[in-house]
Formats: sequence, structure tokens, C-alpha cells
Amino acid sequence: MEKVKLINKYAAGFVSDSDIAAMTPRAVEAMQKLHAKTGEGKDFLGWVTLPTDYDRNEFSRIKTAAEYIRKNCDILIVIGIGGSYLGARAVIEALKSPNYNALTNDTPQIYFIGNTISPSMVTELVSLCENKDICINVISKSGTTTEPAIAFRIFRDVVYRKYSPEEASKRIFCTTDREKGTLKKLADEQGYETFVVPDDVGGRYSVLTAVGLLPIAVAGIDIDAFMRGAQSAQKNLNSEDISENDCLRYAAIRNCFYEAGKKLECFISYEPCMTMFNEWLKQLFAESEGKDGKGLYPVSCIFSTDLHSVGQYIQESGGALMFETCLKFNTPLDDFTITEQEGNIDGLNFLAGKKMSLVNEKARQGTLLAHTEGGVANLIIESEGITEEAIGYMIYFFEKSCAISGYILGVNPFNQPGVESYKKNMFALLGKPGYESEKEKLEKELGIC
Ligand code: PA5
Repeated sequence: MEKVKLINKYAAGFVSDSDIAAMTPRAVEAMQKLHAKTGEGKDFLGWVTLPTDYDRNEFSRIKTAAEYIRKNCDILIVIGIGGSYLGARAVIEALKSPNYNALTNDTPQIYFIGNTISPSMVTELVSLCENKDICINVISKSGTTTEPAIAFRIFRDVVYRKYSPEEASKRIFCTTDREKGTLKKLADEQGYETFVVPDDVGGRYSVLTAVGLLPIAVAGIDIDAFMRGAQSAQKNLNSEDISENDCLRYAAIRNCFYEAGKKLECFISYEPCMTMFNEWLKQLFAESEGKDGKGLYPVSCIFSTDLHSVGQYIQESGGALMFETCLKFNTPLDDFTITEQEGNIDGLNFLAGKKMSLVNEKARQGTLLAHTEGGVANLIIESEGITEEAIGYMIYFFEKSCAISGYILGVNPFNQPGVESYKKNMFALLGKPGYESEKEKLEKELGIC
């Protein structure tokens, strides 16, 4: 397949070849650590070989379950948060559309819940399920995360109200730990089919496991082609020659920017179908690198949409703060030709006969030149089309770059200790048994009598 390429010539005025050369030994050492499994978090490196070394039997069960779900329901409810939903949603929206639910007629609608505690979102989805056949895929590696656990409680009730216990148990699919945790226990007791989040694969690196693959397959996406893309990335991105290995070079350049004082990396796309992919990238990089007071803060923009909101800031004040990484696709999912109009009242006949993709590309080129001139460096990750292979390739490309980048930065890219703080406070404030002493203290701080 045509590989995904990193183009860094628009960063050259900001990060020089000698900066990259100086960073190269650290980047190579970081990659060696990853390959030799000698770095921090070395017990969470299952994703490195996952594209080739995965459970074939489970992969085939995923396809069978996806077929069953497609045949037996109008709506699939996917319950999960963070790494347990972002990857699947990112891939489905990239390859189908953000409007997938409105457009689909031969595969179920897919709604993601359990990624928020918003009562209105839950209420809305419960009512969308009325008079519809539904299935649930609940995804939680730990099996104890509060947001998905509450959503599962609610939607499990919905399923049991609609169907007999025997039928209900066929409509619930659990993706969780191989043997431990509340969810695994419940699934075994109730006879729900289970899929495994391998012990050595953390949430945000789990798209290529059942976590991502089951919902992706239900949406009618070819998961064999998707895995082929990741396999090709696994094979291509090993060289210690930084001019040959785009993944290594990208990791090195982001650290050059970081050490030169940049605070933000802005992931850009000119295709709204990549909005959720950018959200996946934000989680991947923020949770992997943002610790010990370090790390670039990942943000996302869809252009040209956001050129009319934050574009002003980026152009005139962004340079000192950030650089941009644009995910560029040479061919869109679909295209549209602009028509000629009699009278040319809107003055747009000069575009007649031209494709919208051409206008979008000219917007990209114009923005690239304007932003670099305004002091905002640009990296481009370029792919020919938005295909299963390309997206599979990109997932692996970014996972590996992120891990290398984290090691260069000197953090453990595979833990997320900071995520626990809000949970502790929330449990105390809700009166969870075991948190009594904290409750009083926190309520006093909040001024709650
Ligand atoms: O990347 C991660 O590890 C996290 O984002 C988790 O996926 C997220 O917190 C959900 O955890 P769990 O799958 O255990 O419910």
C-alpha cells in the first residue's frame, strides 16, 4: 500500500536539520527501549506487535458477533470512556461519516454512551431506543469505571425490559479483562459473550483489539483491510535511520518543538470526518505525555471551519505557543463539482466545473503559507485516501510515535495516574462507602453545608 508520509519541510524554518540531528540519538535510544522492552511501562507493550500477533480465534468471533448484531438490531449501544470508545468512534466517523447514523440503511446505527455523566444524553438515548431492536457492547478494561458502569446499568435494564432474559443475554457483548473485574464476573454469571482487552495493552493503545474492532466491524468496515494497514506500519516503521523512519522523525521533531518552548500541538484536518480521530489523538498524546509537569498539550482544529473561529489567534498570536500537524488526504471520501449559474450573481462562476476537493486543497495550501509566514510551523502527515488501510496505518504510526516521544520526554507513556484525582473527590462527595473522612473536608472547601 501507499504509505503514510511525514512531510517536515514547512517546519524547516523553525526546527533545523541540525536540531533534528541533535535529537536523533535520543529518539533512536527511545525506540530501542521500546523494541527491547526495557523502558518504563514495559508491561504494556502488547500493542507493538498486535497487528501481526493477535488472537485469530477472537478475531473470527468478532466477525461473527458483528454479523449477529447487524442482523438483529437497529441500534448498537457502545458503552465506554477514554480509550474504550474514542478509537472505534474515530475510525467509524473517518471511514463512514460523522453522519453515519443518519445515512446507514444496511448496518445498525451506533451510539456511544458511558463517556459522559450527562443525564440528558442518557435520557435522549433511552428514548431513541424505544420501539427499536438494540444490542449493547460494553467496553471497560478495568470493569469498574464509573461512567460506563452507570450507563451499563441503565441500558442493561432497557434490554431486559424489551426481551426475555434468554434473548437479552444474547444481545449484550462485554469487552473487558480476560479474567478479573466486576464486568467479567457479571458477564460470566449472565452468559454474555466476552472479548478480551489484553493485559499488556492499555486503553488508548487498544483500537486494534476487540475494543475497537467489534464496533468498527458492526459499522460494515473491513477489519481485515484495517489490520493490513497497521501491519504495514508495523513493518515499515523500525529503521534507526531517521530520514527513512517517519514515525521516529515525527517523535524527534515534536520534542525539538517542545524543547524550543512550544506548548501546544494542534492537530489539523480539512475533513470533518477526522474530528473524532483528532479527539483520539488528543487522548493518546495527553494521557501518554502529560505528566510530571511535562508534555505538549494536544488540541484539534478542523479547517476551514475553525479558521473562522480560532484562525485569527493562530495567525497572529499562535507562533510562540504552538505548531500544527496536519493530517492531509489527497483524495476525499466523496467529491462534488461546482456548477455554473446563469447571471453569476454570486461571482463564483470562475469555480464552475471545479471539484470541491480542489477548493479545499487550495484553502489548505493558502493556510499553510499564511500560518508559516505568521510564525506557525507545520508538519504534514500525508495519505493518498481515507481508506481502511490508511487509517489502520495511521493508528499504529501515531501510537508508536507517541510512545517514542514519551520516552524522549522522560515519562512513562503507558500510565495515567492523574486521572484518579477527580474520581477520588467525586466518590467522596457522592458518599461512597470508604470515603467518609474526605467528604466532610471537601464539602467544607466547596462551602456546602
Ligand atoms: O487509555 C486509558 O487507559 C484510559 O483512557 C481508559 O481507557 C479509560 O479510563 C477507561 O478505562 P476502562 O477501560 O478501564 O473503563
